[in-house]
Amino acid sequence: MAEYDVVIIGGGPGGYNAGIRAGQLGLKVAVVEGRGVLGGTCLNVGCMPSKALLHASELYEAVGKEFATLGIEAKAKLNLSQMMAQKQESVEALTKGVEFLFKKNKVDWIKGWGRIDGPGKVVVKGEDGAETTLAAKNIVIATGSEPSPLPGVEVDQKRIVDSTGALALPEVPKSLIVIGAGIIGLELGSVWRRLGAEVTVVEFLDRITPGMDAETAKTFQRSLTKQGMKFKLGSKVTGAKTSAKDVTLTVEPVAGGEAETLKADYVLLAIGRRPYTQGLGLETVGIEPDKRGVIAGDHFKTTAPGVWVIGDVTTGPMLAHKAEDEAVACIEIIAGKAGHVNYGVIPSVVYTAPEVAWVGKTEEELKAEGAEYKAGKFPFTANSRAKINHEAEGFVKVLADARTDRILGVHMIGPNVGDMIAEYCVAMEFGAASEDVARTCHPHPTRSEALRQAAMGVEGWTMQA
Ligand code: FAD
Ligand code: NAI
Repeated sequence: MAEYDVVIIGGGPGGYNAGIRAGQLGLKVAVVEGRGVLGGTCLNVGCMPSKALLHASELYEAVGKEFATLGIEAKAKLNLSQMMAQKQESVEALTKGVEFLFKKNKVDWIKGWGRIDGPGKVVVKGEDGAETTLAAKNIVIATGSEPSPLPGVEVDQKRIVDSTGALALPEVPKSLIVIGAGIIGLELGSVWRRLGAEVTVVEFLDRITPGMDAETAKTFQRSLTKQGMKFKLGSKVTGAKTSAKDVTLTVEPVAGGEAETLKADYVLLAIGRRPYTQGLGLETVGIEPDKRGVIAGDHFKTTAPGVWVIGDVTTGPMLAHKAEDEAVACIEIIAGKAGHVNYGVIPSVVYTAPEVAWVGKTEEELKAEGAEYKAGKFPFTANSRAKINHEAEGFVKVLADARTDRILGVHMIGPNVGDMIAEYCVAMEFGAASEDVARTCHPHPTRSEALRQAAMGVEGWTMQA
């Protein structure tokens, strides 16, 4: 029986980063992955393919629209199979990159589905059905998540798809209904709208993107509506009938009232994700997930000695960079170091156009806590670079403690904000005051000046407006 210091189950951003960090620290490590390729949801059917299509579709739409404003006359012609092929090529290059890093850091990739078989033992069933047993001083569960189902709306990946199906539609739908105005629905809905689909988003709540600062979410919805996306808020889907060429949905107002039917060529179901623990043998070590399937961890330690948990399958936001941070911290703790994750500084980004990015507390959260805070806000219409680039939609909002000026939350909607939020992540990690950012020289002309101007706005000395 092969013996390891650490056996990690799952080869996504949680699992592969844990494997690499363990290798770097000289631990004997194996990663068990069943999907035949490393990278997990993120690289194969999540972050990366969605960003490939968001990038390509944004350029496609720009050729038809913004290019003319810039004095470039061109007509866009879609080659969907090439768009899909370049997406797949990029994904394969990335997953091969993880394989390379495994070799470089002496991480064994054990191909197959793993299950815990009592303390210190993982059994892996390979593609040929043969089982191998690994002895592990430590087991790290990094099995990720899967799309949440909706009773009555069965995903067939033909007409009713989940995010995986929506990343590989064979044609541009004439009409697409998205169920769920969350991040997946709005990113992938944007992709297909840009490519020509009429997109309607049906959302249970009376707002989009729960968890996002409400003022930012309102501006975001206005922007998406201007682009042609339609919203049916406060509505629930109660049934679906699929034919060979379309789907008919029954939709009811959440507050009560008449049901109506909506028809579309395709439906994307994107109402959230749930932890994935199928066949994992948790009962053999006495781990009981909660009723949503989440495995709790205390500094990644489960209730079973020597069994750890990271990523989407445990508590916290289902984000690749959160899984990655947990991976590093968990392995460092296993190696006797002081691993740590600052859950107060995990950024979120929606990669639409405009992008939306935030870190820390929303205004609603601060109000609910009774916190005294000051806000500084700066619109991109007053940022010279955004204006000259014809992308002056949105704003940056900085929330700081009224007494200490410590930055508590930052919310941005606008061009490139997904990259720019990192500046505030560093600032908050260092416990910065808004004045620290306000007095830091930023290059001109860049969109990043809006970040500084918003910080100056906290004390009311914004200059560029
Ligand atoms: P996963 O990536 O889900 O990996 C778990 C792996 O474990 C899988 O490969 C699975 O096959 C394997 N596995 C499960 N059980 C077993 C078993 N018993 N034996 C062997 N292997 C097993 N996050 C972002 O931060 N930014 C984004 O832009 C972003 N975009 C996304 C877009 C989409 C469409 C989706 C669906 C998700 C997106 N996410 C994004 C979320 C991100 O993909 C997840 O947060 C991240 O992948 C979680 O990493 P993980 O390692 O916990 O799990
Ligand atoms: P989500 O939780 O972001 O949004 C789901 C939406 O569906 C919510 O607005 C919710 O109110 C709504 N909803 C729930 N039940 C419903 C019902 N029955 N009918 C209508 N609406 C309903 O989940 P989503 O978009 O599926 O994404 C899952 C996770 O994947 C995200 O939370 C995020 O963690 C991750 N992700 C991250 C991305 C990024 O970082 N850019 C991109 C895509 C996914």
